[in-house]
Amino acid sequence: MHRYFWYAAVLVALILSFDVVLAFRNAEHEWGHMGPGTLLMLINVVFIWLYTLSCHSCRHTVGGRLRHFSKHPVRYKLWTRVSKLNADHGKYAWYSLFSVAPVDLYIWLLATGTITDVRFF
Ligand code: FES
Repeated sequence: MHRYFWYAAVLVALILSFDVVLAFRNAEHEWGHMGPGTLLMLINVVFIWLYTLSCHSCRHTVGGRLRHFSKHPVRYKLWTRVSKLNADHGKYAWYSLFSVAPVDLYIWLLATGTITDVRFF
């Protein structure tokens, strides 16, 4: 079950990443713009990816069930990297959890018209 939820989490992270890319547009849909919302979304999606990629299921997906790492050097390299990330999985869980709230709040304030979308450039 953990692995299937991990697949779902990857899908959510991909959707959030797509949203971040779209956030680099202004109200006229012109690219190359950025505001505090873009920055918050970017920070959030980085933490979400760190959390997702440091999961035990990711580690097992990339390097599990191998008899000989030497016969699968790419998977071994990926497994080694995910294992390093996995050491801080708990930290990434907290960071991603606490970075979601400001993003949701900012977007809710924008959607309700409480604030206007400020742009750095
Ligand atoms: S979410 Fe998979 S180990 Fe924490």
